[in-house]
Amino acid sequence: MAQTHHTIIVGDSRQMPEILDNTIHLMVTSPPYPMIQMWDKQFCELDPKIAELWKKLETEGKEETVQQIYNEMHENLARVWAETYRVLVDGGIACINIGDATRSLNGKFRVFPNHSRILEHCQRIGFTTLPYILWKKPTTKPMYKGKGAFLGSGFLPPNAYVTIDCEFILIFRKGKLRKFTPKDPSRYESKLTKQQRDEWFSQIWQIAGAHQVADELERRTGAFPDEIADRTIKMFSVKGDTVLDPFLGSGTTTKTAMQNQRNSIGYEVDPNLQPIISEKTAKFASTEATVEIFIRQTTGKMEPWSKKT
Ligand SMILES: C[S@@+](CC[C@H](N)C(=O)[O-])C[C@H]1O[C@@H](n2cnc3c(N)ncnc32)[C@H](O)[C@@H]1O
Repeated sequence: MAQTHHTIIVGDSRQMPEILDNTIHLMVTSPPYPMIQMWDKQFCELDPKIAELWKKLETEGKEETVQQIYNEMHENLARVWAETYRVLVDGGIACINIGDATRSLNGKFRVFPNHSRILEHCQRIGFTTLPYILWKKPTTKPMYKGKGAFLGSGFLPPNAYVTIDCEFILIFRKGKLRKFTPKDPSRYESKLTKQQRDEWFSQIWQIAGAHQVADELERRTGAFPDEIADRTIKMFSVKGDTVLDPFLGSGTTTKTAMQNQRNSIGYEVDPNLQPIISEKTAKFASTEATVEIFIRQTTGKMEPWSKKT
């Protein structure tokens, strides 16, 4: 079995100077979702302008401020999509798992269509948009007036809302189709089974959410199930390729890349997640799959993680 190498960088992926242009074959990720409350604090910490806008909304309650907050959150993600475009090889694929957000703000319930924002944006910066996947999760509670239940009145038209129980896996390609030599062994060794091809290339995936252990920190990462990373890695890369996850969270993509004989690079800005990432990946580390963790210093210099601890 060929050796693979896995690098984890504790740092902000809005800039990825550690990665050379045109060197990544596949990006698989799930960013913090704009306008989903659990990510508000992190967006504010990463971009003080967003914190200011929330304060402004509290005092002035203007609708345009809601839109500004939403825009700024996407501006921050857009920096990562631009970096992804830079580092992908010609023919490289980007898979972005994203959910829309529903929220009552300023006394108004509405949907923030994160998937279409990202789709239009990625297309504008040069990606080719490919058919995407709808990840249907087990149904959560239906909604009535923005609350997590229909209540009795849900039977009476017209004021109940459709429940959001799908997320998106958006798929983009940079440039032209990837080229391989005829009978390229890495490609043939990565062949899918008929069942995988038939099931995975259909548009709706029914997969239960990640098993979230009681640990608060793990819940906070909003981990996707291994199955999402496993399928996308097998569908859109070959053995020996390098997979990037710029929003690594608990380390699911690294772990899955290790299991599938792909190399990987993951970025995670929250240093508190390091123990979870280490635990998730340690079981799969061996002489065939080595893991190194670095922390990016304020100077931009990279230090091995152990030096810091
Ligand atoms: C939705 S979670 C990813 C969960 C991951 N797919 C998993 O299975 O655990 C998003 C992660 O991105 C991280 N993050 C947010 N902004 C970041 C940035 N600019 N650079 C690096 N990581 C970031 C958050 O700390 C969070 O852990």
